[in-house]
This record gives sequence, C-alpha cells and structure tokens, in this order.
Amino acid sequence: MTFTIAVHSAKGGTGKTSIAVNLAAAYALDGMKVCLLDMDMRGPSLCTYFKPDPDSVSFWVNDLLSGKRGINEIIYDVSGELKIRGKLSVGYSNPDINEIRELASKDRKWQSNALKNIIIGKKELIRNETDVIIFDTGPGVEYESINAVAASDIVLIMKNSTRSCFECTEQLYNGVYKCLNKRCVIVNNMHHCSLDGKIAEQENSEIPVLATIPCMCNIATRHDEILALSDQEHEFSRAIYAIKQKLECFH
Ligand SMILES: Nc1ncnc2c1ncn2[C@@H]1O[C@H](COP(=O)(O)OP(=O)(O)OP(=O)(O)O)[C@@H](O)[C@H]1O
Ligand SMILES: [Mg+2]
Repeated sequence: MTFTIAVHSAKGGTGKTSIAVNLAAAYALDGMKVCLLDMDMRGPSLCTYFKPDPDSVSFWVNDLLSGKRGINEIIYDVSGELKIRGKLSVGYSNPDINEIRELASKDRKWQSNALKNIIIGKKELIRNETDVIIFDTGPGVEYESINAVAASDIVLIMKNSTRSCFECTEQLYNGVYKCLNKRCVIVNNMHHCSLDGKIAEQENSEIPVLATIPCMCNIATRHDEILALSDQEHEFSRAIYAIKQKLECFH
C-alpha cells in the first residue's frame, strides 16, 4: 500500500527539505519505489538539491496543480545517478520568480482545484505501485503546503528548539492538523545540547515525538550531498534510518 508523508513545519528553516530528501533516499536505498514532490512552491529547493539539466525539465509540479499535466509527465527518475536498489522520482517546483509570483495570486477556487489535481496524481502513483510519496512543503499555512498536508497519510512536523517554533507548532496542530484529522508526529531538529552534552529538555505537547536530531555543523557544510546515501554511518543518516523504521508502524 502506498504511504504518503508530508514534511511540514510552522516556521522556516527547520530542516524539512533535508529530512524529505534523505528520507526519500533511505526508502529508495531499501529497494522501494519513491516519489518526492516539491510542494514548497514559494521557495522551491529540490532543483538546488538534484541539479537537473535545465533542458531536461519540461514540466513542473506547478503544471500538475494547474491541471495542465498529469503526474507521470512532471516526475523525473533520478535513480541512475544514485546507488540505490529501488527507484526515486522527483517532481520539481518551478524556481522562476515569475512563476512564484503568479502562484501567489491564485485564488481559493484555483487552490481547491489544485488539491483535486494532487489527489488525482496520487491515485495514479498508487496505480503505478509507488510505495512511498513524500511532499516537501513550505512553512506555515500557505495553500500549497496545507493541500499537501491534506493529501498525506501522516505529517512529519519539523520543529527546532525555539519557544516561538513550539508555540506556532501548537497553533498549527490545533488550528489545522486536528481539523483535517491528520496523524502527526514531531521531529525535533537542530536540537541544542546543554553544556553537559545532554539534549535540552523538551516542551510538553500532545503530539508524539518521533525523533530528536541534534544540531550538527557538518550537515549545513555538506548540503550538496544526500548523506543517507553518501555517508551511511553519519549521525544524521542514522537518525534518518531510525525515523524510517519508526514510521513503519504507521504504514
Ligand atoms: N540537524 C541539523 N544540524 C545542523 N544543520 C542542519 C540540520 N538539519 C538541517 N540543517 C541545515 O539547516 C538548513 C535549513 O535546512 P532545510 O533547507 O532542510 O530547512 P527547510 O525547513 O526546508 O527550510 P525552508 O523552510 O526554507 O524550506 C540547511 O542549511 C541544512 O543543511
Ligand atoms: Mg525547504
């Protein structure tokens, strides 16, 4: 059965893209058929990560949302470049500033049609026997991100250790995820250690914590690598495999 994960957060820069890309790679490494879609339409990142040849990308996630193209026309197989047993396909969001501006002007009706088109795309991926779909979303309550959350089976809520991120996450949980009846788990990322090296005290929340990943300087400096593939012993990669394993009970 296809399992759909939305990686979302209340605040920006919490590690959504890092987790989405590495988790997708970890599933594909394990032999699964994975589809990773850039739903962060206002701040696309997957083109920067995978660096596709510009001439090879004819269609974008934007075309899926607007109903101009089907899912199979907007995803690109990147497995060849990666040493994986399974298959990883990526749908890119158009990073062109004019496309981003145009999207910001779309109304509610367009966005509700976009949700229908995502669900049609998801059904096609299910027919194609895709094992896992991962949506990398933008922070907060922009329509595209909430549409991705709505179309998912589980939300991986990325959270850093600031008070404001905690409060915004609680608001998002009560105001959005609960209303959509979504299963949610928290991944505390870039968590600070106290001076004795222990991970700092966690805030109390109704949402279960799936994992806590410390802040590691060498993640930011190795941003052009998919660590889950290139450095399988890295602490970050091990955290990714543990998240994947813990998610199994939600499949
Ligand atoms: N555990 C970590 N320790 C240190 N740096 C990290 C960690 N996780 C991610 N980063 C770094 O933090 C930065 C932000 O990560 P990322 O782009 O994945 O966040 P994001 O939530 O997708 O951001 P945005 O909201 O802008 O889309 C990147 O430079 C990434 O390499
Ligand atoms: Mg991102």
